[in-house]
Parts: sequence; C-alpha cells; structure tokens
Amino acid sequence: MLNNLNSIYQEFKDLVKTVGDERHLDEIRVKFLGKNGLITNEAKKIAAVPPESKREFGAKVNQIKSEIQRNIQEIKEKLEDIILNEKLRTETIDITLPGRSYQRGKVHPISHTIDLIKNIFHSMGFEHIDGPDIENEWNNFTALNIPKNHPARQMHDTFYVENSAKENGEAENEEKLNLLRTHTSTVQIRHMLKNKPPLKIFSIGKVYRSDHDATHTPMFHQLECLVVDEKSNILDLRGCLEIFLKLFFNLEQIPMRFRTSYFPFTEPSFEVDIKCDRSKKGEIKIGAGNDWLEILGCGMVNKKVLENVNIDTDKYQGFAFGIGIERLAMLKYNISDLRCFFEGDLRWLNHYGF
Ligand code: DAH
Repeated sequence: MLNNLNSIYQEFKDLVKTVGDERHLDEIRVKFLGKNGLITNEAKKIAAVPPESKREFGAKVNQIKSEIQRNIQEIKEKLEDIILNEKLRTETIDITLPGRSYQRGKVHPISHTIDLIKNIFHSMGFEHIDGPDIENEWNNFTALNIPKNHPARQMHDTFYVENSAKENGEAENEEKLNLLRTHTSTVQIRHMLKNKPPLKIFSIGKVYRSDHDATHTPMFHQLECLVVDEKSNILDLRGCLEIFLKLFFNLEQIPMRFRTSYFPFTEPSFEVDIKCDRSKKGEIKIGAGNDWLEILGCGMVNKKVLENVNIDTDKYQGFAFGIGIERLAMLKYNISDLRCFFEGDLRWLNHYGF
C-alpha cells in the first residue's frame, strides 16, 4: 500500500516537471487531488486499512497530499510571475498620448429659464404647483368660463386625446373628455378645487396647440400665477409683475404698460407691454428705448371662475397672469427663432453658450 503511494507521488513529481501553463497544472491537480483523484482515492481507503497499519498509512496519505498541494501552489505562483513579467516587458504606456476628451452635458436654455423663474417666485413667497399635461375639457375650458361653443375655444387649436368614455359609449361627459392642455390655467382650477384661500401659487409646464411656424411650436411652456385672498387688487398684480420682471431681466427699472384686453377667466383683463429698444437690427433691448413689447396676459380672477370652484366671491378675490416661457427666454438671451429650442442641435446650443 505504501509502495503504491510512493509510486503515485513519483508519478506526480515526473508529471509536474512537464507543466507549461496554468491549464496543464490544473489538469494535474484534478488527476491527483480531484473528486476521483489518485490521492483522494487513497484517502478513501484509510477506513478499510487494518488497525495496526492504519496510522502509518493515514499519515503518509496526508503527508503526500500536502506535499502535492504545496508543490502545485508554488508552481502556480511561479507561472503567475512569469505571465506578469512578460506583460510588463511587452506592454508599454505612451505617456505622450493626449488624454481622451469627453463631452459634458449642459442645461437646456428652457430648463435654465424655468429654474430662474422658480427661484424668483419662491423668493416672493409663492408655492410651486404641478398639473398633468392630459386634462379634461372642464378644467381646461368650462371651469375657466370658456363654455362649449364659446368663440375663445377656437383661439386654442386643441389636440384631443383618444377617450375611453366615448369608446365605451358612455354619455358625453366633459370631465372625462381628454385633451392636451392648451394652457397652464388648468392648474388654477385644480388647486382652487382642493384648497381654501388664501392661495398664492405658480405653475410651470408644457402646453400644446396645433400650430407650427417661426413663432409657434406645437408644444411650448407657460408660467401661470394665481393669488386669491380677501384683498389682492390690481395694484398688487402690477407690483408683483414689476418685481418678477425686474428680477428676471436683471434690470433696475422696467417701464410697463397695461392695455385692457379680454380673457374669459379674468375681469377686468389686461395685456402687459414692457419698454424695449428695437433700433439695432436683429436685437431687442428690454427696459429702454421707445418701443413697447407685449409680454403677458393677466387680470383679476373672474367671479364666475371662483364660483365654479366654490369660492365665496363676497369674501375672496384675486389676480392671475400667464406668460410664455420660450418668449421670456428668447428675450433674455436674444434668440430669434423659437423652433431652434426643440431641434436638439448642439451647434445652436453651443452658439448661445449653453
Ligand atoms: N391662459 C392664457 C393663454 O394661454 C394666458 C393667461 C392670461 C393666463 C391671463 C392668465 C391670465 O392667468 O390671467 O393665453
């Protein structure tokens, strides 16, 4: 039995001399120490060995087993050293090569403008409210005092959305007729239905109209503001707008002009112009010069709108205004074509320094 062990060990020693790589070494390991390896099988015999020679045989098996393990480990380390040295010898690093450059993402001018506006309104104590892009007719039109067949509905070229209520043959219900909101005034309605005055909110988001030319895109962004309390009046509205516009355009003075106008959801309604200088071709300078530029719509919230959302009109009143974000961005950064905002052309973005 011991002879057999010795010859197994000899076989190992002979074989191991021929090792060329790690794979070969592993084959040898399996041959001797694997599940059915030669040494493993010897070890299985220990139990059956007669008591008088069991001790000696067991010790010998274990001794040879650890010899083989040690040998294999040593050769393994040697092989790894050889591979590493070979790598170090052949792989050279050219430290004169220029570094790899990568492009950094930047903030889109519209997002930049939105962030700026949010900061301003937060600093003025307004709460930011979000609303969904897909709305129902009631929130978008009826509650804002634009009933069915009202001519103002035609001013908004509305995208209607496939409607499950209609498909199911249910009676037409304007609270279920879906559309892409045509303005952010919808958020006024949503907020007033769920909250009691005093309210002081603003909302910024996407709106949709079927329109496409140099000054219109089918999707654009609006800012909406609403204040409802016991005493807010037109002077407060004017003051609020003045502070916002001064901060937005970073100007000390910003002459404004209120022109009477019409919006179904405000009474009285105004359009606001700001002073500008158009004397230099292709450029509009805000806050100076002799021209006027229309910038937003506003007014005192129409009593009918407050009644639609169950607010007591003997006690409460308020003002609201709405502004196009792209228009503000175009004026602030002197950009002439609205469509470029959404073409995703990096050359254009880089040109404007974004
Ligand atoms: N919703 C109007 C639009 O899209 C803008 C607007 C005008 C909003 C007057 C208002 C407002 O809140 O008071 O054209």
